[in-house]
Amino acid sequence: MKILVINGPNLNMLGIREPEIYGRRDYAALVAFIREEAAKRGLEVECRQSNSEGEIVTLIQQAYKVFDGIVINPAAYTHTSVAILDALKTVAIPTVEVHLSDINAREEFRRFSFVSLAAKKTICGKGFDGYAEALDFFASPGE
Ligand code: DQA
Repeated sequence: MKILVINGPNLNMLGIREPEIYGRRDYAALVAFIREEAAKRGLEVECRQSNSEGEIVTLIQQAYKVFDGIVINPAAYTHTSVAILDALKTVAIPTVEVHLSDINAREEFRRFSFVSLAAKKTICGKGFDGYAEALDFFASPGE
């Protein structure tokens, strides 16, 4: 099973960016973690990061008939992007939404997620482990 992991804007700055919220480990450490957890579950994984909404839409479109699942942390676009929501609905690939922080326990504007409307599951506030939980969704469907 092939899973595409997409991380949105500013997640390339992990480790530097508000470490009290997002932790001290950097983006490279996140990719290493995801690869290791995917391998443990027998999943093939590709990790992409983009700061651009249009590029994320294109990545989702290109996943059509190529990937079996998407794990996405759309970062700030979570709360603004109808385009990313529409792209996910277009390809209809099972999607799990992940947030490092608990978006429900922060500013009011973070509570709404467009992407949740297309996601089978949303995991937030678990840091890197949220991505492992998202992979579990694909490794043990139905559980
Ligand atoms: C985030 C939460 C978003 O509100 C924020 O804009 C991010 C990261 C998270 O992983 O907790 O960039 O998606």
